[in-house]
Amino acid sequence: MGNAHLRIGLCLAPTWLKGQAEESGNRGRFDLDDPIELAILLAKAAEDAKLDLVFKPDYLTDAHARTVRKRQGVGVDPTLLMAAVAQATQKIGLVTTASTTFNPPYIIARQMQSLNWISRGRAGWNVVTSIEGAENFGFDAMPSPEERYRKAAEFLDVVHKLWRSAPAIGARREGAFVPVDHHGEFFKVKGPLNVPEHAEGSPVLFQAGASEIGKDFAASIADATFAATPDKQVAIDLRADLRRRAQVQGRRADDVRILPGIYMFLAETREEAFAMHERAHAHLSQQMRFEAAKAVLGVDISHMAMSDRVTLDVVGSSLGPVRSKTHAELLRRYIETTTPTVEQLLRRPEVVGSAHWVSVGTVSDVMNEIVEWFSDGAIDGFIAIPGGSSQSLSLFLDELVPGLAAKGLFRHDYETSTLRGHLGIPAQADAVT
Ligand SMILES: Cc1cc2nc3c(=O)[nH]c(=O)nc-3n(C[C@H](O)[C@H](O)[C@H](O)COP(=O)(O)O)c2cc1C
Repeated sequence: MGNAHLRIGLCLAPTWLKGQAEESGNRGRFDLDDPIELAILLAKAAEDAKLDLVFKPDYLTDAHARTVRKRQGVGVDPTLLMAAVAQATQKIGLVTTASTTFNPPYIIARQMQSLNWISRGRAGWNVVTSIEGAENFGFDAMPSPEERYRKAAEFLDVVHKLWRSAPAIGARREGAFVPVDHHGEFFKVKGPLNVPEHAEGSPVLFQAGASEIGKDFAASIADATFAATPDKQVAIDLRADLRRRAQVQGRRADDVRILPGIYMFLAETREEAFAMHERAHAHLSQQMRFEAAKAVLGVDISHMAMSDRVTLDVVGSSLGPVRSKTHAELLRRYIETTTPTVEQLLRRPEVVGSAHWVSVGTVSDVMNEIVEWFSDGAIDGFIAIPGGSSQSLSLFLDELVPGLAAKGLFRHDYETSTLRGHLGIPAQADAVT
């Protein structure tokens, strides 16, 4: 299969449980208490669907864990979790998350290379600089973004040196171990690493963070980025920008694959899907919704009564700055065609949605949107974040992915058993193949 097909991952954060009924009598196919068993079950289901990878975000604080129900918030270390998943799977890529702000590079270089050995070449590392967690690492506050990215760049330099320092067993290279001897602003590391490179090459690098420095960082090191792109134009611009920046860094444009998250709510009918989306956001207060509507539309409508009708006259005249033009346009189109009440408007996905691409509807609705984004050059693939109920996840794996394969946009079966192989990334020249 050539390059013209999607790269598809599944996010292992159990987002579909937000909005699913709490009662244990109403539990879905993917609703397990044990986080290890759950991750294994999901990864096996994703492997059955021939996905490229499973992806685990991670934060070194419990703030995020508290946003989902307690039993899913168990913050098991994602790299250890992936080691367990590796034992239960054969082909699927395993992308863990580790912060360059809080960890020493020798430890991370070793852990990632170890995961690569444990999984036989299926390891990926989502490189994050983190936005919180300072209180757990002796910092009074988070270092500035500039400092975090400077540290991240040096961190990756050290990690690459460490990976190169211990060549794959049997490598035809002079001298088995290469000293590192790194002296930098943040790190002093002698090396060499005590884990040799895997014969299939080093772990694949993901990155998340899309500020100007974040994009330069991604363009210099990442094989793929996990991006938040609330609308298609944002994704088109981001992809073009990252491809250009990669070339400026002496890489090929295709070397950085753009894989936005899609928060997808899938049901048999459009009405059911929208109802599911609504249930998943039932916890949002009226004030939060008014603020979100203002951010989307650029107009404050909080003075209106819930039963008042919203027309284009109400929102049309005084359009201020908006978060996303596409969301504003979508919502204005909805207002124009349906003249909703304020209450109805405040329930719309454009209002309550996340920073990720939100897609709500039937399998063919969401599939058509994915096909459109792909053919318009907005994405190289995506990371699925099924929402609302485990039904979204089941429909994604059982119908949407096979639907994309039937259109020739995704594989019918694995052709390799490494993450590099799935994503079309050559093993490094200095690894033995
Ligand atoms: C889509 C997305 C996912 C992220 N996931 C994580 C994560 O799992 N763990 C983490 O510590 N930080 C995560 N981050 C934070 C980034 O690593 C980075 O610290 C932050 O976005 C600030 O960089 P920026 O200004 O370039 O966006 C994520 C950021 C984005 C945009």
